[in-house]
Amino acid sequence: ARVKHVRIHEVGPRDGLQNEKAIIPTEQKIGLIDRLSEAGFEKIEATSFVSPKWVPQLADAEAVLRGIKRRQGVTYAVLTPNLKGFDRAVAAGADEVAVFGAASETFSRKNINCSIAESLERFAPVMDAAAAAGIPVRGYVSCVVACPYEGDIAPGAVRDVAARLTEMGCYEVSLGDTIGKGTPETVSTMLEAVLQAVPAERLAGHYHDTNNRALDNVRASLELGLRCFDSAVGGLGGCPYAPGAKGNVSTGALARMLTAEGWETGIDMERLAEAEAYLARVIAASRE
Ligand code: HMG
Ligand code: MG
Repeated sequence: ARVKHVRIHEVGPRDGLQNEKAIIPTEQKIGLIDRLSEAGFEKIEATSFVSPKWVPQLADAEAVLRGIKRRQGVTYAVLTPNLKGFDRAVAAGADEVAVFGAASETFSRKNINCSIAESLERFAPVMDAAAAAGIPVRGYVSCVVACPYEGDIAPGAVRDVAARLTEMGCYEVSLGDTIGKGTPETVSTMLEAVLQAVPAERLAGHYHDTNNRALDNVRASLELGLRCFDSAVGGLGGCPYAPGAKGNVSTGALARMLTAEGWETGIDMERLAEAEAYLARVIAASRE
C-alpha cells in the first residue's frame, strides 16, 4: 500500500528566529537554512520582508536569501505584508511568498497595524503582482483559537478570513494557533467551521506548543483531512506581537510522531539532528 504523505513546512528560520532578542549574525541564519536544506524539506520559510523597525531581527532578509545554498527541489518561502515587502522578496529571489492576516481585530492592529478588512485590501496588490510574476502565495490566519488580547475567537471569524484568502488566490491557508491555547476539541471545532469554506487539501495547521498540546492538535487535524503542518526546528519561536506565545511545535517531535503513526514525511532525521545541534549552538552563543 502507498504510504500516506504529510508535508512538514519548516518555519524555524522565520517564526523561530523572529522572536530572538539578540540579533543573530546573518551567516549563522544562512548556516541554519543550509543545514535544513539537506534534511529533506520541500519548503523552508527563510525570513520575512517586513518593516525592519517592527522586526529588527529579520532586517537582513536580502542578505539571508542571497547567501543560502539553494538546494534543487526546495522552495524558499518568505513573509510579505505589503507590496514593498513583495518587491524586496522578488528582487532577492524568493520562490514563494506569504501574506499574513488574523481572525482577531486587536491582533491584526498590533501585528500589522491595520484592521482585518484593511489587511485584505493591502494583500490584493500583492496577490496581483504575485500572479503576474508566477509566484505562489500562501495565506496565514493568526489567532484561530484564541487571541492574546481578545481571548477566545469565534470559529466563524476564522472561516471568513480563510475563505477570503482562498478566494484571493492563496494556494494554501495556514491556520495559526498563535499562543498555543488550542486543544483537540477547540481545534476540531474551528476546523469544522473552516472546512465549510475551504477544502482540507488547501489548509495547513500551524500550532504553537505553549501547553504541550500541539501534537494532539495535529492528530485531530489529520482526522479531519489536513496533510500539511508547520513546525520549527528545535521548537523555537513565538511572535513579538503575541505576549506569552511560545515556540512552534518542534519539527523533530512532529516528524517522529508522524512516522510512528504511519505517515511518511521525507525528513532525514540525522540531517535534521545536525540542524538542531547547530541551532542550539547559535542560540546559546547569542544568549550569552
Ligand atoms: P506601518 O508602520 O503601518 O507601515 O507597518 P507603513 O506602510 O506606514 O510604513 C512604515 C515604515 O516602514 C516606512 O518607513 C515604510 O517604508 C517601512 P519610513 O518611511 O518610516 O522610513 N516599510 C517597510 N520596510 C521594509 N519592508 C517592508 C515595509 N513596509 C513598510 N515590507 C507593516 C505596517 C505591515 C509594514 C508592519 O506592521 C510590519 O512590518 N509588521 C510585521 C510584523 C511581523 O512580522 N510579525 C510577525 C509575523 S506574523 C506571525 O508571527 C504569526 C504567524 O507565525 C502565524 C501564527 O503563529 O499565528 C505567521
Ligand atoms: Mg507562528
